[in-house]
Amino acid sequence: MSYFDNVKKTQLKENPIILGIESSCDETACAIVRGREILSSEIISSASEQAKYGGVVPEIASRAHTDAVDEVVKLAVKNANISLNEIDAIAVTYGAGLLGALLVGLSFAKSLAFSLNKPLVAVNHIRGHMAAAYLDDKYLEPPFITLLASGGHTAIIKTTSYTDFEVLGSTRDDAVGEAFDKVSRILGLGYPGGPKIETASKNGENSIILPKMLKGDSGYEFSYSGLKTAVINYCHNIEQKGEAVDVSNVAKSFQTSAVDALVERVIQATKAENINTITAGGGVVANTYLRDSLTLACEKNKIKVVLPQKKFCTDNAAMIAAEGVIQYKAGNFSPLSVNARAQIKLGEKGKVKTNL
Ligand code: KG4
Ligand code: ZN
Repeated sequence: MSYFDNVKKTQLKENPIILGIESSCDETACAIVRGREILSSEIISSASEQAKYGGVVPEIASRAHTDAVDEVVKLAVKNANISLNEIDAIAVTYGAGLLGALLVGLSFAKSLAFSLNKPLVAVNHIRGHMAAAYLDDKYLEPPFITLLASGGHTAIIKTTSYTDFEVLGSTRDDAVGEAFDKVSRILGLGYPGGPKIETASKNGENSIILPKMLKGDSGYEFSYSGLKTAVINYCHNIEQKGEAVDVSNVAKSFQTSAVDALVERVIQATKAENINTITAGGGVVANTYLRDSLTLACEKNKIKVVLPQKKFCTDNAAMIAAEGVIQYKAGNFSPLSVNARAQIKLGEKGKVKTNL
Protein backbone atom coordinates (compact mmCIF):
# COMPACT_ATOMS: atom_id res chain seq x y z
CA MET A 1 0.00 0.00 0.00
CA SER A 2 1.42 3.44 -0.87
CA TYR A 3 1.99 6.15 1.72
CA PHE A 4 -0.91 8.10 0.24
CA ASP A 5 -3.38 5.15 0.43
CA ASN A 6 -2.29 4.30 3.93
CA VAL A 7 -2.77 7.85 5.20
CA LYS A 8 -6.25 8.00 3.69
CA LYS A 9 -7.16 4.82 5.59
CA THR A 10 -5.75 5.94 8.94
CA GLN A 11 -8.17 5.10 11.75
CA LEU A 12 -7.97 8.14 14.01
CA LYS A 13 -7.30 7.34 17.66
CA GLU A 14 -8.36 9.41 20.69
CA ASN A 15 -4.88 9.38 22.23
CA PRO A 16 -2.45 8.77 19.37
CA ILE A 17 1.27 8.15 19.95
CA ILE A 18 3.06 10.93 18.05
CA LEU A 19 6.80 11.24 17.49
CA GLY A 20 7.75 14.91 17.09
CA ILE A 21 10.92 16.32 15.56
CA GLU A 22 12.12 19.94 15.90
CA SER A 23 15.15 21.46 14.14
CA SER A 24 14.21 25.06 13.29
CA CYS A 25 17.07 26.81 15.10
CA ASP A 26 19.87 25.48 17.31
CA GLU A 27 18.13 22.63 19.16
CA THR A 28 17.83 19.19 17.59
CA ALA A 29 14.91 17.67 19.47
CA CYS A 30 12.73 14.59 19.42
CA ALA A 31 9.84 13.72 21.73
CA ILE A 32 7.13 11.13 21.95
CA VAL A 33 3.70 11.86 23.41
CA ARG A 34 0.58 9.77 23.89
CA GLY A 35 -2.32 12.23 23.72
CA ARG A 36 -1.24 14.84 26.27
CA GLU A 37 1.17 12.55 28.12
CA ILE A 38 4.88 13.04 27.44
CA LEU A 39 6.62 9.67 27.10
CA SER A 40 10.04 11.16 26.32
CA SER A 41 11.55 14.50 25.33
CA GLU A 42 15.19 14.79 24.26
CA ILE A 43 17.28 17.73 23.08
CA ILE A 44 20.79 17.94 21.67
CA SER A 45 21.70 21.64 21.54
CA SER A 46 24.39 23.48 19.59
CA ALA A 47 23.85 26.62 21.72
CA SER A 48 27.27 26.44 23.41
CA GLU A 49 28.95 26.18 19.99
CA GLN A 50 26.84 29.14 18.72
CA ALA A 51 27.75 31.20 21.82
CA LYS A 52 31.35 31.46 20.54
CA TYR A 53 30.00 33.51 17.61
CA GLY A 54 27.55 35.61 19.66
CA GLY A 55 24.46 34.19 17.93
CA VAL A 56 23.17 31.38 15.76
CA VAL A 57 25.29 30.73 12.64
CA PRO A 58 22.92 28.95 10.19
CA GLU A 59 25.54 26.65 8.65
CA ILE A 60 26.79 25.54 12.07
CA ALA A 61 23.19 24.85 13.09
CA SER A 62 22.54 22.73 9.96
CA ARG A 63 25.71 20.69 10.49
CA ALA A 64 24.91 20.16 14.16
CA HIS A 65 21.38 18.94 13.28
CA THR A 66 22.84 16.53 10.70
CA ASP A 67 25.16 15.10 13.36
CA ALA A 68 22.49 14.88 16.06
CA VAL A 69 19.16 13.98 14.46
CA ASP A 70 19.64 10.22 14.28
CA GLU A 71 20.95 10.04 17.85
CA VAL A 72 18.21 12.23 19.35
CA VAL A 73 15.43 10.21 17.67
CA LYS A 74 16.93 6.91 18.87
CA LEU A 75 17.22 8.32 22.38
CA ALA A 76 13.59 9.49 22.42
CA VAL A 77 12.31 6.11 21.21
CA LYS A 78 14.44 4.25 23.77
CA ASN A 79 13.37 6.50 26.67
CA ALA A 80 9.69 6.30 25.70
CA ASN A 81 10.01 2.54 25.97
CA ILE A 82 8.04 1.89 22.81
CA SER A 83 8.82 0.31 19.46
CA LEU A 84 8.77 2.43 16.29
CA ASN A 85 5.77 0.46 15.01
CA GLU A 86 3.59 1.67 17.89
CA ILE A 87 3.86 5.27 16.63
CA ASP A 88 0.69 6.57 14.98
CA ALA A 89 2.19 9.57 13.14
CA ILE A 90 5.38 11.59 12.72
CA ALA A 91 5.06 15.34 13.44
CA VAL A 92 7.80 17.71 12.33
CA THR A 93 8.44 21.45 12.23
CA TYR A 94 8.31 22.62 8.59
CA GLY A 95 8.67 26.36 9.41
CA ALA A 96 9.32 29.02 10.40
CA GLY A 97 13.05 28.87 10.98
CA LEU A 98 16.46 28.54 9.36
CA LEU A 99 15.90 26.78 6.05
CA GLY A 100 18.93 24.49 6.15
CA ALA A 101 18.19 23.58 9.76
CA LEU A 102 14.51 22.84 9.03
CA LEU A 103 15.43 20.64 6.06
CA VAL A 104 17.45 18.28 8.25
CA GLY A 105 14.52 17.49 10.56
CA LEU A 106 11.93 17.52 7.78
CA SER A 107 13.91 15.14 5.53
CA PHE A 108 14.50 12.79 8.44
CA ALA A 109 10.80 12.85 9.37
CA LYS A 110 9.70 12.21 5.77
CA SER A 111 12.03 9.22 5.51
CA LEU A 112 10.79 7.85 8.82
CA ALA A 113 7.13 8.30 7.81
CA PHE A 114 7.76 6.66 4.45
CA SER A 115 9.70 3.71 5.83
CA LEU A 116 7.22 3.06 8.67
CA ASN A 117 4.24 3.78 6.39
CA LYS A 118 2.84 6.24 8.96
CA PRO A 119 1.26 9.64 8.30
CA LEU A 120 3.37 12.80 8.37
CA VAL A 121 2.08 15.91 10.13
CA ALA A 122 3.82 19.17 9.18
CA VAL A 123 3.76 21.53 12.17
CA ASN A 124 4.07 25.32 12.27
CA HIS A 125 6.68 26.03 14.97
CA ILE A 126 4.57 28.82 16.46
CA ARG A 127 1.55 26.53 16.73
CA GLY A 128 3.89 24.20 18.60
CA HIS A 129 4.72 26.92 21.15
CA MET A 130 0.99 27.56 21.56
CA ALA A 131 0.23 23.83 22.01
CA ALA A 132 2.80 23.39 24.81
CA ALA A 133 0.14 24.51 27.32
CA TYR A 134 -1.95 21.40 26.56
CA LEU A 135 0.88 19.25 27.92
CA ASP A 136 0.89 21.17 31.17
CA ASP A 137 -2.84 21.04 31.81
CA LYS A 138 -4.55 17.84 30.64
CA TYR A 139 -7.97 19.49 30.94
CA LEU A 140 -7.18 22.77 29.16
CA GLU A 141 -9.71 23.54 26.43
CA PRO A 142 -10.24 26.55 24.15
CA PRO A 143 -11.20 29.35 24.28
CA PHE A 144 -8.21 30.99 25.92
CA ILE A 145 -5.82 33.88 25.32
CA THR A 146 -2.20 33.00 24.58
CA LEU A 147 0.77 35.23 25.22
CA LEU A 148 3.31 34.24 22.59
CA ALA A 149 6.79 35.57 23.40
CA SER A 150 9.70 34.07 21.51
CA GLY A 151 12.81 35.08 19.59
CA GLY A 152 10.82 35.63 16.40
CA HIS A 153 7.30 36.51 17.57
CA THR A 154 5.46 38.56 20.15
CA ALA A 155 1.70 38.40 20.02
CA ILE A 156 -1.54 38.12 21.92
CA ILE A 157 -3.65 35.42 20.38
CA LYS A 158 -7.21 34.29 20.97
CA THR A 159 -7.42 30.54 20.55
CA THR A 160 -11.00 29.85 19.56
CA SER A 161 -10.81 26.09 18.93
CA TYR A 162 -8.09 23.43 18.82
CA THR A 163 -7.33 24.35 15.22
CA ASP A 164 -8.25 28.05 14.92
CA PHE A 165 -6.95 31.25 16.37
CA GLU A 166 -7.13 34.98 15.91
CA VAL A 167 -4.21 37.38 16.42
CA LEU A 168 -5.41 40.26 18.62
CA GLY A 169 -2.13 42.15 18.57
CA SER A 170 1.52 41.63 17.76
CA THR A 171 4.81 43.47 17.57
CA ARG A 172 5.28 46.20 14.98
CA ASP A 173 9.02 45.61 14.80
CA ASP A 174 11.35 43.46 16.95
CA ALA A 175 10.14 40.45 18.90
CA VAL A 176 10.64 40.60 22.68
CA GLY A 177 13.21 37.72 22.64
CA GLU A 178 15.13 39.50 19.90
CA ALA A 179 15.24 42.62 22.13
CA PHE A 180 16.58 40.52 25.05
CA ASP A 181 19.28 39.13 22.73
CA LYS A 182 20.25 42.55 21.35
CA VAL A 183 20.35 44.25 24.76
CA SER A 184 22.45 41.37 26.08
CA ARG A 185 24.94 41.95 23.24
CA ILE A 186 25.02 45.73 23.96
CA LEU A 187 25.77 44.97 27.62
CA GLY A 188 28.49 42.49 26.64
CA LEU A 189 26.65 39.58 28.26
CA GLY A 190 26.65 37.38 25.16
CA TYR A 191 24.37 34.66 23.81
CA PRO A 192 21.73 33.41 24.58
CA GLY A 193 20.60 36.85 25.68
CA GLY A 194 17.41 36.09 27.62
CA PRO A 195 18.93 33.91 30.33
CA LYS A 196 22.01 36.19 30.60
CA ILE A 197 19.81 39.29 31.15
CA GLU A 198 17.72 37.39 33.68
CA THR A 199 20.81 36.36 35.66
CA ALA A 200 22.37 39.86 35.51
CA SER A 201 19.11 41.48 36.63
CA LYS A 202 19.10 39.48 39.89
CA ASN A 203 21.63 41.90 41.42
CA GLY A 204 20.14 44.99 39.80
CA GLU A 205 17.51 47.61 40.51
CA ASN A 206 14.76 48.94 38.30
CA SER A 207 16.34 52.38 38.56
CA ILE A 208 16.62 53.55 34.93
CA ILE A 209 13.61 55.25 33.42
CA LEU A 210 12.91 53.79 29.98
CA PRO A 211 10.11 55.03 27.68
CA LYS A 212 6.68 53.51 28.12
CA MET A 213 5.57 51.49 25.14
CA LEU A 214 2.88 52.83 22.81
CA LYS A 215 -0.36 50.94 22.90
CA GLY A 216 -0.95 50.90 19.12
CA ASP A 217 -4.31 51.00 17.39
CA SER A 218 -5.73 47.81 18.85
CA GLY A 219 -4.26 48.48 22.29
CA TYR A 220 -2.48 45.12 22.20
CA GLU A 221 0.46 45.96 19.96
CA PHE A 222 4.12 46.02 20.94
CA SER A 223 7.23 47.85 19.75
CA TYR A 224 10.50 46.52 21.13
CA SER A 225 12.77 48.39 18.76
CA GLY A 226 12.18 51.68 20.64
CA LEU A 227 12.97 50.07 23.99
CA LYS A 228 16.20 48.60 22.62
CA THR A 229 17.22 52.01 21.17
CA ALA A 230 16.48 53.68 24.51
CA VAL A 231 18.87 51.22 26.20
CA ILE A 232 21.57 51.89 23.55
CA ASN A 233 21.18 55.67 23.98
CA TYR A 234 21.32 55.40 27.76
CA CYS A 235 24.54 53.34 27.61
CA HIS A 236 26.16 55.76 25.13
CA ASN A 237 25.30 58.78 27.30
CA ILE A 238 26.83 57.16 30.38
CA GLU A 239 29.96 56.16 28.46
CA GLN A 240 30.31 59.66 27.00
CA LYS A 241 30.32 61.04 30.54
CA GLY A 242 33.23 58.70 31.23
CA GLU A 243 31.17 56.67 33.71
CA ALA A 244 30.72 52.91 33.87
CA VAL A 245 27.40 51.37 32.89
CA ASP A 246 25.81 49.42 35.75
CA VAL A 247 25.02 46.28 33.76
CA SER A 248 22.77 44.76 36.43
CA ASN A 249 20.63 47.89 36.75
CA VAL A 250 20.26 48.22 32.96
CA ALA A 251 19.38 44.51 32.70
CA LYS A 252 16.80 44.78 35.49
CA SER A 253 15.26 48.00 34.11
CA PHE A 254 15.05 46.60 30.57
CA GLN A 255 13.59 43.28 31.77
CA THR A 256 10.98 45.09 33.87
CA SER A 257 9.85 47.33 30.97
CA ALA A 258 9.85 44.47 28.44
CA VAL A 259 7.88 42.09 30.64
CA ASP A 260 5.46 44.59 32.21
CA ALA A 261 4.18 45.57 28.74
CA LEU A 262 3.47 41.90 27.95
CA VAL A 263 1.65 41.25 31.20
CA GLU A 264 -0.38 44.47 31.08
CA ARG A 265 -1.60 43.89 27.52
CA VAL A 266 -2.43 40.20 27.88
CA ILE A 267 -4.52 40.91 30.99
CA GLN A 268 -6.34 43.77 29.20
CA ALA A 269 -7.06 41.57 26.19
CA THR A 270 -8.34 38.69 28.30
CA LYS A 271 -10.72 40.95 30.21
CA ALA A 272 -11.93 42.70 27.05
CA GLU A 273 -12.61 39.36 25.35
CA ASN A 274 -14.40 38.11 28.45
CA ILE A 275 -12.25 34.98 28.60
CA ASN A 276 -11.01 33.51 31.87
CA THR A 277 -7.91 31.54 30.91
CA ILE A 278 -4.45 32.69 29.81
CA THR A 279 -1.74 30.39 28.43
CA ALA A 280 1.73 31.32 27.29
CA GLY A 281 4.47 29.96 25.08
CA GLY A 282 7.87 30.79 23.60
CA GLY A 283 11.37 31.11 25.03
CA VAL A 284 10.76 34.38 26.90
CA VAL A 285 8.08 32.62 28.98
CA ALA A 286 10.98 30.76 30.65
CA ASN A 287 11.77 34.12 32.32
CA THR A 288 11.01 33.91 36.06
CA TYR A 289 10.06 37.59 36.40
CA LEU A 290 7.53 37.16 33.58
CA ARG A 291 6.14 33.95 35.09
CA ASP A 292 5.80 35.51 38.56
CA SER A 293 4.31 38.79 37.29
CA LEU A 294 1.79 37.04 35.06
CA THR A 295 0.79 34.61 37.80
CA LEU A 296 0.29 37.48 40.24
CA ALA A 297 -1.70 39.58 37.76
CA CYS A 298 -3.92 36.57 36.98
CA GLU A 299 -4.51 35.93 40.68
CA LYS A 300 -5.54 39.56 41.16
CA ASN A 301 -7.91 39.43 38.19
CA LYS A 302 -9.26 35.93 38.97
CA ILE A 303 -7.98 34.55 35.67
CA LYS A 304 -6.72 30.98 35.36
CA VAL A 305 -3.16 30.82 34.03
CA VAL A 306 -1.44 27.82 32.40
CA LEU A 307 2.32 28.18 32.01
CA PRO A 308 4.24 25.32 30.38
CA GLN A 309 7.29 24.15 32.36
CA LYS A 310 10.34 26.26 31.46
CA LYS A 311 11.89 23.47 29.39
CA PHE A 312 8.73 23.35 27.25
CA CYS A 313 8.74 27.15 26.68
CA THR A 314 12.09 27.21 24.88
CA ASP A 315 12.40 25.14 21.70
CA ASN A 316 11.61 21.45 22.23
CA ALA A 317 9.93 18.62 20.37
CA ALA A 318 7.21 17.77 22.91
CA MET A 319 5.34 20.90 21.82
CA ILE A 320 5.67 19.85 18.17
CA ALA A 321 4.27 16.43 19.04
CA ALA A 322 1.47 18.12 21.05
CA GLU A 323 0.46 20.17 18.00
CA GLY A 324 0.89 16.96 16.00
CA VAL A 325 -1.81 15.35 18.15
CA ILE A 326 -4.20 18.23 17.36
CA GLN A 327 -3.56 18.10 13.60
CA TYR A 328 -3.74 14.26 13.63
CA LYS A 329 -7.15 14.40 15.33
CA ALA A 330 -8.28 16.90 12.69
CA GLY A 331 -7.07 14.43 10.01
CA ASN A 332 -4.67 17.10 8.78
CA PHE A 333 -1.88 14.99 7.29
CA SER A 334 0.81 16.19 4.92
CA PRO A 335 2.01 14.92 1.58
CA LEU A 336 5.64 13.78 1.49
CA SER A 337 6.24 16.67 -0.91
CA VAL A 338 5.68 19.25 1.85
CA ASN A 339 8.56 21.73 1.83
CA ALA A 340 10.37 23.65 4.53
CA ARG A 341 9.49 27.34 4.85
CA ALA A 342 11.76 29.96 6.37
CA GLN A 343 8.83 32.25 7.10
CA ILE A 344 5.21 31.59 7.92
CA LYS A 345 3.03 34.61 8.52
CA LEU A 346 1.28 34.71 11.85
CA GLY A 347 -2.02 35.12 10.05
CA GLU A 348 -5.39 35.96 11.49
CA LYS A 349 -6.59 32.40 10.93
CA GLY A 350 -4.24 29.66 11.94
CA LYS A 351 -5.11 26.63 9.82
CA VAL A 352 -2.07 24.85 8.42
CA LYS A 353 -3.08 24.07 4.86
CA THR A 354 -1.26 20.80 4.35
CA ASN A 355 -4.24 18.43 3.91
CA LEU A 356 -3.80 15.63 1.40
O1 KG4 B 1 10.97 30.10 21.57
P1 KG4 B 1 12.44 30.18 21.46
O2 KG4 B 1 13.27 29.14 22.15
O3 KG4 B 1 12.88 30.22 19.95
C1 KG4 B 1 12.12 30.87 18.98
O4 KG4 B 1 11.17 30.26 18.48
O5 KG4 B 1 12.45 32.06 18.75
O6 KG4 B 1 12.82 31.62 22.00
C2 KG4 B 1 14.14 32.05 22.01
C3 KG4 B 1 14.15 33.40 22.67
C4 KG4 B 1 15.53 34.05 22.63
O7 KG4 B 1 15.39 35.36 22.17
C5 KG4 B 1 15.97 33.98 24.07
O8 KG4 B 1 16.83 35.04 24.45
C6 KG4 B 1 14.65 34.05 24.81
O9 KG4 B 1 13.77 33.28 24.05
N1 KG4 B 1 14.75 33.50 26.17
C7 KG4 B 1 14.55 34.24 27.28
C8 KG4 B 1 14.82 33.37 28.37
N2 KG4 B 1 15.14 32.14 27.88
C9 KG4 B 1 15.09 32.24 26.52
N3 KG4 B 1 14.20 35.52 27.44
C10 KG4 B 1 14.10 35.99 28.70
N4 KG4 B 1 14.35 35.23 29.79
C11 KG4 B 1 14.70 33.93 29.68
N5 KG4 B 1 14.96 33.19 30.76
ZN1 ZN C 1 10.67 28.62 19.22
